[in-house]
Amino acid sequence: MNLLIDNIGELVTNVAGTGEGGVLGIRRKAAVLVEDGDIAWVGPSRYAPAADRRIDALGGAVLPGFVDSHAHLVFAGDRAAEFAARMAGEPYTGGGIRTTVAATRAAGDDDLRDTVERLRGEALRQGTTTMEIKSGYGLTVADEARSLRIAAEHTAETTFLGAHVVPPEYASRPDDYVGLVCGPMLRAARPYARWIDVFCEKGAFDVDHARAILTVGQEAGLGVRVHANQLGPGGGVQLAVELGAASADHCTHLSRDDVDALAGSRTVATLLPGAEFSTRSPYPDARRLLDAGVTVALATDCNPGSSYTSSMPFCVALAVREMGMTPAEAVWAATAGGAQALRRDDVGVVRPGARADLIVLDAPSHLHLAYRPGVPLVSKVLHNGVPQ
Ligand code: NIG
Ligand code: FE
Repeated sequence: MNLLIDNIGELVTNVAGTGEGGVLGIRRKAAVLVEDGDIAWVGPSRYAPAADRRIDALGGAVLPGFVDSHAHLVFAGDRAAEFAARMAGEPYTGGGIRTTVAATRAAGDDDLRDTVERLRGEALRQGTTTMEIKSGYGLTVADEARSLRIAAEHTAETTFLGAHVVPPEYASRPDDYVGLVCGPMLRAARPYARWIDVFCEKGAFDVDHARAILTVGQEAGLGVRVHANQLGPGGGVQLAVELGAASADHCTHLSRDDVDALAGSRTVATLLPGAEFSTRSPYPDARRLLDAGVTVALATDCNPGSSYTSSMPFCVALAVREMGMTPAEAVWAATAGGAQALRRDDVGVVRPGARADLIVLDAPSHLHLAYRPGVPLVSKVLHNGVPQ
């Protein structure tokens, strides 16, 4: 069974050098043939082969599905009151993470599963076809393992974040908590995780603790990603580069050395504008990173504290309006950039052999994602070749 999407007004391929060139590799009047979950053919609409089924893009834009490489979906409760307090002038410190940890520990598996399903569904309807999901609100051996077990029901991109904060019962002995994370917690998490992450920040984990945790994770076969330089300057970004991390996430407070280190590395800078929006903080300087040659990704950071959005189009719009990115750079960062941040070459791109993860916009071009903020422009989503 195959399927043809034709009458595409603008096809964003992310294959450099294709069509009109530029980062998005845009082709006009195109068609895409999908077979067995993969893209089988890409070409001009007038040469499109016959297929069992047809989707008419009605002259709209077709893009690779969004790749959201940073999300915390396994939690219970919400923190709307904390958001309201911030909008009345309170600062964000990350302290509210402990509120969500208490609620998550008290929740049943089915409650957690329902929340992940709800948010994953929300994201999919807005065009997110690949989504990373972290643990990090359990912070006991059993609660981190179950968080990852539930996350793994929804994605292959699961991340062990036992080092999110030091939980209250270890407040007076953080070294012991690091020992727990590096030993029994990592062993319990390992079967369900592809990545390991640490919140490397004042008030969470310092660089030495972060290095110790990430190194044992790496030795256990996990890929490395780091929450780095979100709330203030620090050594997180340079640690990420030192360890060959796939991604340094947030990157809001960067020194010149941090930018240089990223520029000379394969570590992607993943920017999370939903967090700055929702904590009323200064946005990261994407322009500075791009001009230095750093690979930039955009992700939602979906979580109940600092960024309760599952919308990649919203993040694209913020990145363009507030962070100095062009619409093309932002769309690339939300698709191909996210794929690089997950070290994936089968998503975030439209070429034969790639996954048939595609979105159709009810708009003539990718520009409209930033030009028409808040408007639900994603009219159709194909995930693994299957219309959703
Ligand atoms: O990425 N910074 C650390 N973790 C999350 C926030 C978690 C929370 O506030 O619950 C983040 O922004
Ligand atoms: Fe995060």
